Parts: sequence; structure tokens; C-alpha cells
Amino acid sequence: MFRSVARSAAGKNLLRRGYATESVPDRKVAVLGAAGGIGQPLSLLMKLNPLVSRLALYDIANTPGVAADVSHVNTRSEVAGYVGEDQLKQALEGCDVVIIPAGVPRKPGMTRDDLFNINAGIVKSLCAAIAKYCPNALVNMISNPVNSTVPIAAEVFKKAGTYDEKKLFGVTTLDVVRAKTFYAGKAKVNVADVNVPVVGGHAGITILPLFSQATPKANLPEEDIKALTKRTQDGGTEVVEAKAGKGSATLSMAYAGAIFADACLKGLNGVPDVVECSFVQSTVTELPFFASKVRLGKNGVEEVMGLGPLSDNEQAGLESLKPELKASIEKGIKFANQN
Ligand code: NAD
Ligand code: LMR
Repeated sequence: MFRSVARSAAGKNLLRRGYATESVPDRKVAVLGAAGGIGQPLSLLMKLNPLVSRLALYDIANTPGVAADVSHVNTRSEVAGYVGEDQLKQALEGCDVVIIPAGVPRKPGMTRDDLFNINAGIVKSLCAAIAKYCPNALVNMISNPVNSTVPIAAEVFKKAGTYDEKKLFGVTTLDVVRAKTFYAGKAKVNVADVNVPVVGGHAGITILPLFSQATPKANLPEEDIKALTKRTQDGGTEVVEAKAGKGSATLSMAYAGAIFADACLKGLNGVPDVVECSFVQSTVTELPFFASKVRLGKNGVEEVMGLGPLSDNEQAGLESLKPELKASIEKGIKFANQN
């Protein structure tokens, strides 16, 4: 194990601006796949997060260098790099949040489901280790296909007797990030003020942005809403094609992953009204997993929120995404129980 200590002088009782009388609890976060295209910038962003006190960077290769590099940043957390399966236990023990961007990315012409054969096995073995070494951690699943990897994780945890539906999240924040950016551009409003819920899943038409609920209101014509919806659904492919064989979104994903992990940490720390969209176990539709707005709290999911009023086109989009999302969920469940 490579360990670099970069603990701030304030140590565990570090005080943050705005919380002058409140101490920030110790929180350990692990990034699994930390040496990858997402893993590296995400590790940096988590090092910048003052809510993190210990940062464990795990990968099957190259983590000593990433950990040494990130550890020199003069922020609160102590950084340690772990490489190879025999160091996974140490990486995971004591974790409050585990972020998983481990696995292969798409190349042009591939769907996210084309990654299933490789990534399903990676996710399954990492989740088996989580069940063993940090069964109470919140799991932030980034590895694709999210519509299947989240159900795989749930089945692995169920088999291990550790499943808590409040603690498993498919990270769909990048869809929200994209919807906000594209909407702000079209509506000519300040992007920092924009909110757009994105529901469903994380692949193609299963990504359903609810622009009818976007704020600030802009009364965009229906053809603009259709174009924004399509661009949000194809956002991942837009990046895959632009990168022309060199992978998929990494920097915007690291940003989105850092936002979602920060929301999880805030929820754990008891900050009120922390709401993000995420792909979670759900009764919002007849499907067992579904992305919608989720209120985060001290135990993970505090409330899975409903969809709210939908436009006619959004209602149609909701009905047409269900068969694909159902099949992806069932594929994940079947894999976890067969292998
Ligand atoms: P990458 O190939 O650059 O990095 C993946 C990393 O995972 C590598 O460092 C690799 O060594 C590591 N890895 C492989 N097997 C591992 C294992 N068993 N344990 C630990 N680490 C392991 O890929 P990337 O661009 O970082 O993308 C990673 C995944 O994230 C892909 O599946 C991609 O499709 C997905 N992704 C999801 C979203 C989303 O919105 N949820 C967005 C972008 C990418
Ligand atoms: C994304 O939305 O960017 C990711 O899911 C990666 C991909 O393959 O598109």
C-alpha cells in the first residue's frame, strides 16, 4: 500500500466557513477505478471536498502515482493509494461512501449495453468486496451500463445479506448537468440558476429530461424542447464521437460524480433538503429501479420523490422508455444470479 499523509493542521475537528460552531465529522470516501479517465479528476475533486477526511484511491494498476500526486494538494483529507485485489480490503474498510467508476468506456458505434460483458463482472466482484468490508457505505455506481450495474449490485448485496436499498445509487447526475447546460443555452438564462429534473435511466431514450419542470421558466417552443431532449439523451454519444475512440466523458463525469458524492456526504452529515436525481430502488413506476429526484439524509435515501406533472410528450417518453429499462434491469438481475 502506498500512503501519503496530507492531513490539515485542523485535523478531525476542522471548521468550515459558514459552519463556525459546527465540527465536520470524519468521512472516508473510496474511489474504485481511481487511475482511470474519470477516476483521476474525480479523485482530485474529492480531495478538494472539505467534507472528506480520508480518501482511498483503488485501482488494479497505477494508483501509487495518482495518490502521490493528489496527496500534495493542501486540503483536509489524508490520501492513500491501493493497488490490486489484495489491497481492496484496506481501501474499503471504514468507508462512508464508495464511488465506482471502474470498467471500460464506450468507443464510437457502441451502446452502453455493449459494455455489459466486461463491466458486469467488474462491478459484481467490487460489490462483493463492499458487502464484506464496508456493508454500510453509500455506493455511487458510475460504471456502465448503469441501468444494469445497479441491479447487479443490489443482487450481490442481497446474496451477502447486506442490501439496504437506501444506500445504493446509480449516478445519473451527468444527465442533469447536461440538461441544465443545454437548457440555459437555448433559454438564454443564467446556467447557475437552472434546475431540470432528469428521470428514468441512464442510456438513450431511458434518459428522460423533464423540461416542462425546468426553472427558470422560458416557454420554449415544442420543437426546441424536442431538440433539447434528444441532445440530452445523446449527450454521452456526442462526447464518445468527439473523442473518436479515446473513450467517453471523463471530465464532465468527474464533475457530476463529485456533485453527487458531495450530496451524499451532506445528507450523511444531516444537512437538510439535499435533493439530487439518482437511479435507485423505486416504486415511482412499476419498474423496480428508476431515476427520479431523491432526498438524501443520514441513512442515504430519505425519500424517493414522485415525477410531478408531465407534459404529453414526457408522458409518451415515459411509456416508451419502460420496455428498454425493464430489459436492462432484468439482464443485470439474471447475470448476478447466474454467475
Ligand atoms: P477508463 O478506462 O479510463 O478507466 C477505468 C478504470 O477502471 C481503469 O483505470 C481501470 O484500470 C479500472 N478498472 C478496471 N477493472 C477494475 C477493477 N476490477 N477494479 C478497480 N478498477 C478497475 O474508463 P472511464 O472513462 O473512467 O469510464 C469508466 C466507466 O464509467 C465506464 O464504464 C463508462 O462507461 C462509465 N461512465 C459512466 C457515466 C455515467 O454517467 N454514469 C459517465 C461516463 C462514463
Ligand atoms: C455518458 O453519458 O457520458 C456516459 O454514460 C458514457 C457513455 O458511454 O456515454
